[in-house]
Amino acid sequence: MKATFVEKIPDFDGQDVELRGWLYNKRPSGKLIFLLLRDGTGTIQCVISKADVDREFFEACDKLPQESSLILRGLIRKEARAPEGYELVVKSGEIVQKAEEYPISPKEHGVAFLLEHRHLWIRSKRQHAILRIRAEVMRACRDFFDERGFVLADTPIFTPAPCESTSTLFETRYFDQMAYLTQSGQLYNEATCMAFRKSYCLGPSFRAEKSKTRRHLTEFWQVEPEVAYADLGDIMDLAEQLVTYVVERVLEKRRKELDILEREIGLLERVCTPFPRIEYKDAVAALRKSGLEISEGGDFGAPHETELSMNQEKPFFIIKYPASSKPFYMKRDPDDDAIALCMDCLAPEGYGEIVGGGQREDDLNVLLRRLDENNLERKDFEWYLDLRRYGSVPHAGFGLGIERIVTWICKIQHLRESIPFPRMLDRVYP
Ligand code: 4AD
Ligand code: MG
Repeated sequence: MKATFVEKIPDFDGQDVELRGWLYNKRPSGKLIFLLLRDGTGTIQCVISKADVDREFFEACDKLPQESSLILRGLIRKEARAPEGYELVVKSGEIVQKAEEYPISPKEHGVAFLLEHRHLWIRSKRQHAILRIRAEVMRACRDFFDERGFVLADTPIFTPAPCESTSTLFETRYFDQMAYLTQSGQLYNEATCMAFRKSYCLGPSFRAEKSKTRRHLTEFWQVEPEVAYADLGDIMDLAEQLVTYVVERVLEKRRKELDILEREIGLLERVCTPFPRIEYKDAVAALRKSGLEISEGGDFGAPHETELSMNQEKPFFIIKYPASSKPFYMKRDPDDDAIALCMDCLAPEGYGEIVGGGQREDDLNVLLRRLDENNLERKDFEWYLDLRRYGSVPHAGFGLGIERIVTWICKIQHLRESIPFPRMLDRVYP
């Protein structure tokens, strides 16, 4: 008899198979027990009839607690009333482990309780669907860059200097010196793109975000490409192609999961290039018109991003941000030194920023001045300055936040459900 997986069941109609999994749910009805077996690839209804199996097994199944592990063998047949359209008519089986009483019951639980039990919560249908979509997003990101000749070059997690705001650095002891957990692979990508022309990294970033918001984790993942001989326009084209590619892939491969999440897919289906491009000053004017306050030259906060992206139908860019609120490495607009050659890409439906990036300062002397202005020590950046000493060229790149795009694609409320084990201001367990 063939051991198989629930997702392969349609190939086995009318055949005997073995399934290995866990008990998701159970409905006894006298001489029959309806078990919902989940095996990691899906769930299937299994019917055990008292007449078909040995008595001991029937009685054990009748009392089996949720999440017990078990192996079932029997015949696959079409059953329109079963959730997946098929059911397993059980002929034999064995219980691998009888579970203790499972803490997560079908009743409503508070989110604090669920987060405390995240190691078990990920087995539930919705969480399972979200994390499968996340895995698809990761694979799509890798495929996108691999297909386009980018070289995957991993960047370090222990770093000697900050990349983004010094206010969100995690410091850690590194033998007899201090190091920081990386905030972004960008500075290293700038080195690898000068070696490979087009490179990318995909890994975790760390930021000591001290406020609780639904958009921020302290540990999150980014895919970050960097391209030599590229300008802002080039990487905006790249970013909109990437976002479109990822959305199309999820629509193609993870339709079932989107259905489980009851994600309305009309707007996802409409995602296509080019994305609208809005200038910062026009965005500020629109925000003020709708009654939101924003300081002159200030960066957008969560309410601003929500407002801006609420009425958009597809992702869009905001460009021409004031340079004053941006990191030291950003190149300035040659026509207006107060403006940075950067962009953010915001997701629609109120989700806000999913991509941040831009063109990098490639002039050694300007960069030296920017380090000083930002109170950053030259000695920590000597290696980075070398990139401007030896064959400096215009270059640009961006970071796409994996949890941000997953949260939007799944249309869930909070980033904490878009990663297997979220790390936040008040959570490092489990
Ligand atoms: O806009 P950010 O800060 O840009 C950078 O880190 C650049 N150095 C990237 C680059 O050019 N290579 O972060 C990039 C993206 C954001 O657009 C957002 O999607 C995500 O990373 N992000 C976060 N996601 C979850 N939690 C947080 N605290 C995040 N901070 C940024
Ligand atoms: Mg940003």
